[in-house]
Amino acid sequence: MKRNIAVIILAAGKGERMKSSLPKVLHALCGRPMILYALDLVTRLKPNKVISVLGHKHSSVEKHIPKNIKIVLQEKLLGTADAVRRTDRFLKNFNGTVVVLYADHPLFKEATIKELIRHHLKNGCDVTLLTAQAIDPSGYGRILRDNYGNISGIVEENRANEFQREIKEVNLGAICFNKKTLFKALRQIKQDPAKKEYYLTEAVRILYRQGALIESVKITNLDEAMGINSHSDLMKANRLMRKNIIERLLGQEVKIIDPETTFIDWQVKIGKDTVIYPFTIIESGVKIGSRCLIGPFCHLRPGTTVKDKSEIGNFLELVRSRVGKKTKIKHFGYIGDSRIGNQVNVGAGTVTANFDGKNKNLTIINDRAFIGSDTVLVAPVKIGKAAVTGAGSAVTKNKNVPDGKVVVGVPARVLNKRGKR
Ligand code: UD1
Ligand code: MG
Repeated sequence: MKRNIAVIILAAGKGERMKSSLPKVLHALCGRPMILYALDLVTRLKPNKVISVLGHKHSSVEKHIPKNIKIVLQEKLLGTADAVRRTDRFLKNFNGTVVVLYADHPLFKEATIKELIRHHLKNGCDVTLLTAQAIDPSGYGRILRDNYGNISGIVEENRANEFQREIKEVNLGAICFNKKTLFKALRQIKQDPAKKEYYLTEAVRILYRQGALIESVKITNLDEAMGINSHSDLMKANRLMRKNIIERLLGQEVKIIDPETTFIDWQVKIGKDTVIYPFTIIESGVKIGSRCLIGPFCHLRPGTTVKDKSEIGNFLELVRSRVGKKTKIKHFGYIGDSRIGNQVNVGAGTVTANFDGKNKNLTIINDRAFIGSDTVLVAPVKIGKAAVTGAGSAVTKNKNVPDGKVVVGVPARVLNKRGKR
């Protein structure tokens, strides 16, 4: 059994049903454009060739595609069969299995697609479809079977009669084809009169009539079966993806008090024994050490790192900021573009005024500093080691506070030894 595999990822569609100017495959799932999940999965399959078909707003989609993936343009969106045909030139000398994946299925597990390919190769099939028994099959192509239970075709919803619409077994848009058989069939597909598209799924009916061996791998985990066509689908998929992320973290001994109200994006790292309290949003790329306390009601945005044993409390927003070890920022406030050291205490209501209308500026708070409640730090500004700001003080731009000094007032001034300004 020679494993010679080319994967084609279809991502040219407009995503009509999203009613959005952003191409469908760029809509984010847990902070990441959905096409990247499909591309990741493909890389892990280690195929001999990968081709991505782009069309609608291709230049904005192209920016997200890794260099080792061949891009083919489908200038007119004439359907999934036409999209696959566009890859013809690039597969001239290729013989083997073509796996077609739709970029709007970001939830597939690697093992599922591997099983599909394994089945296809082991049984020497011409076509192997991934199918599922859907609870609600609407929107999907329905699998037609003959009296012997063999797959005889796929009927798209807009062409299905009322009996066919009742069929619950659906096509999930992951199909293995024998390359030669596929391209022969593609030439015979007729345009759908209503949609004016060439449906890839028509290939199955054509090949059945020609006596091809068509089989299926049926998945039972409906969560990974989801295709995304609308905002409502996207919302459901986000929920499922979030659940996967949270389950993975729970397995790594992160304590998440209420998964239902905790929103953690893709590629967030959290250390052991950290507790995440409810109503917390942690965006892509945030890194949190171990034994930290995070939330409730806090928002950690990209570019944020929190080191071990620190506490980030209620009603806080942190962005592009680094927080050292054993530092406490426990009550409402905004920390942006900041480098905060170890064992710092940041009082309630502290705000870093990081934006001057043109640029984002840096705030540095060194180890063991004590920032009094309601302090405003106008960046760029530096607070020295073990320095103190009084409650309600406003430390102005470039008025750096030296190590160990105390500043108070608006604008903040250094207190002398007798406690006078
Ligand atoms: C498709 C299948 C349907 C299946 C469902 C699974 C067809 C005709 N129908 O329907 O049987 O149950 O997926 O989710 O294949 N695309 C292109 N070029 C085009 C049109 C689409 O590249 O001209 C791409 C889209 O970007 C998308 C994928 O192909 O990633 C599927 O297109 P979509 O319009 O979402 O098809 P569905 O109606 O979902
Ligand atoms: Mg779709």
